[in-house]
Amino acid sequence: MKALITGATSGIGKCIAYSLHKRGWELILTGRNENVLKELQKKFGKGTEIIKAELSDRKEVFRLYKLCKGKNIDMLVNSAGYGIFGKFDRTDLKDELNMIDVNITALHILTKLFLRDFKKRNSGYILNVASVAGFMTGPLLSSYYASKNYVLRLSLAIAEELRHENSDVKITVLCPGPVNTNFNNRAGVNFSAPPVSPEYVAEYALKKLFQGKWLAVPSLTAKVCAFGQRFLPYKILSAITYNVQYAKKTTDGKNRAVEK
Ligand SMILES: NC(=O)c1ccc[n+]([C@@H]2O[C@H](COP(=O)([O-])OP(=O)(O)OC[C@H]3O[C@@H](n4cnc5c(N)ncnc54)[C@H](OP(=O)(O)O)[C@@H]3O)[C@@H](O)[C@H]2O)c1
Repeated sequence: MKALITGATSGIGKCIAYSLHKRGWELILTGRNENVLKELQKKFGKGTEIIKAELSDRKEVFRLYKLCKGKNIDMLVNSAGYGIFGKFDRTDLKDELNMIDVNITALHILTKLFLRDFKKRNSGYILNVASVAGFMTGPLLSSYYASKNYVLRLSLAIAEELRHENSDVKITVLCPGPVNTNFNNRAGVNFSAPPVSPEYVAEYALKKLFQGKWLAVPSLTAKVCAFGQRFLPYKILSAITYNVQYAKKTTDGKNRAVEK
């Protein structure tokens, strides 16, 4: 069995690579950090391929697909993604469009192309990494939350289409709360709740994927957010989220984009 993993150089994607390797899967790993990709290839040994790709560039996404097309991929894991913190009028537009290209466009393209291949042979797994943010509006991380809403809704819609066809293709959307990865460093924020480990999240996600579950929500905090939000009026929920996000502000002056 062979899996293609985006975001394989760090955090959740990297831990999914370890979990699948442990189960005897062959891997195609992608990310931008070539050194880490080479280290992982050395560690996992025979049967591991690496492809350096910048997923904010559509041409690179199609190149990645073409390179993998003839390789009998059984699983696609879309883990690459990041967040941008700050008030919507203050955050940099170019950075944000770049983030939308990685979090939404690249995932959309790869999901569609691999889904078509998987449906032709009536087998295959897709694991899309969204977030508990996908269930909510997210003041101060607005476009990140919106991007994860897209991933969540797209994946659940595909799951229902597959169910209608009695397809053996499986899709799961992973919605973690805080996870101890490089995510916060890149977004320039602190954790507002104790994070869980990416190793736990990876194992949990694969368990749910192999069980054919549509949704994987690891940790109690994430479950409370994902299911509790249904019972709150959206204005109250938005006010709570604003305060939770504001508390993530670092004190090193990096987060000027939230000040009045
Ligand atoms: N950590 C959390 O608290 C948390 C919670 C919920 C959801 N998530 C989601 O989990 C996923 C993985 O994040 P993580 O927490 O594991 O963070 P991470 O440790 O920062 O890993 C992010 C991964 O995405 C890749 N990536 C970022 N920009 C890229 C680009 N332009 N082109 C190609 N690859 C790119 C990075 O690879 P390179 O640096 O090598 O490019 C890295 O492998 C993301 O979708 C994130 O939104 C995270």
